[in-house]
Amino acid sequence: MTQPALSHDASPDLRSAFAADVRAGLTHTPQKELPSKYLYDEVGSALFEVITVLPEYGVTRAEERLLAKHAAEIVEHLPHDVTVAELGSGSGRKTRRILEALCKKRPTSYCPIEISRSALQLCRRELGDIERISIVGYERDYLAGLAEVSKQRSADERLLVLFLGSTIGNFGRLAATRFLREIRNMLAPGDALLLGTDLIKPTPVLVAAYDDSIGVTASFNLNLLARVNRELDGDFPLDAFEHVARFNPDARSIEMHLRAKRDVTAHVGAAQLTVSLEQGETIWTESSHKYRAEEMPAVAGGAGFVCSHQWIEEEWGFAESLLVAQ
Ligand code: AVI
Repeated sequence: MTQPALSHDASPDLRSAFAADVRAGLTHTPQKELPSKYLYDEVGSALFEVITVLPEYGVTRAEERLLAKHAAEIVEHLPHDVTVAELGSGSGRKTRRILEALCKKRPTSYCPIEISRSALQLCRRELGDIERISIVGYERDYLAGLAEVSKQRSADERLLVLFLGSTIGNFGRLAATRFLREIRNMLAPGDALLLGTDLIKPTPVLVAAYDDSIGVTASFNLNLLARVNRELDGDFPLDAFEHVARFNPDARSIEMHLRAKRDVTAHVGAAQLTVSLEQGETIWTESSHKYRAEEMPAVAGGAGFVCSHQWIEEEWGFAESLLVAQ
């Protein structure tokens, strides 16, 4: 999922929202936290692209294998004449299979929704060569973009929303259902949502996926503090923090934290904040929830969808679920 890239010339609004979130998160008790969306500045997005090809991180390859194998069949289960809206298209790489299968049948409109202009440009370059595709990008957050796509379609046109990559896992479970419900509220009965979810697997496999041997995920995590330093006049000593990935069995999620290796006091100028951490204390930066394939019908039902079909990639453990709006 690509998120807003705040650089030094980021708009004052984005910078002050970032400062407010950092202030709220680092004064949160008992657990300090920072919202995971801020992992994805330009550096973080580039590091995430590397994560997707790491041997330990099977998520992206599993979904690519699944879509390569089943795209034609998935498309057979979609309503005729669909416009495709993708939430967080990223580079568009994994979407190619679905779009090719759709465009083989009929000309198809594809609306990637991305808050990052550069991701939209990348996506157009990656997918623009597909025959009979027309691409209209929306530089918006997910729900605002989807509302617009939905409003602009004609009465006989159905929508297929793509939410791939297991990005839903980065929402808490209740928040995930709420988010799916918000998507549902913008759809008409018969519209569909193709939802990618990473499946629960043995803890050592999960921990390795989020704590790889060459430290890319550690850098991805640490970049969040580096970003606070760069953009918000912070002075976190980066060498005083280490990356931690741990499985939370109650939440069935992998949590990423940044742990202080010694007592640390830092200042964040733009947030008017002085923050102290004791040795061993952590800042919680991301959760990645893992699902069981069998729970998807209930998740779908809770949000006003029916799970009509499911495709499973068994080698890594990944599910693509087709949810139809009721
Ligand atoms: C974007 N998201 C689905 C990734 C995940 O697996 O939760 C983000 C990530 N964080 C560390 N590695 C990958």
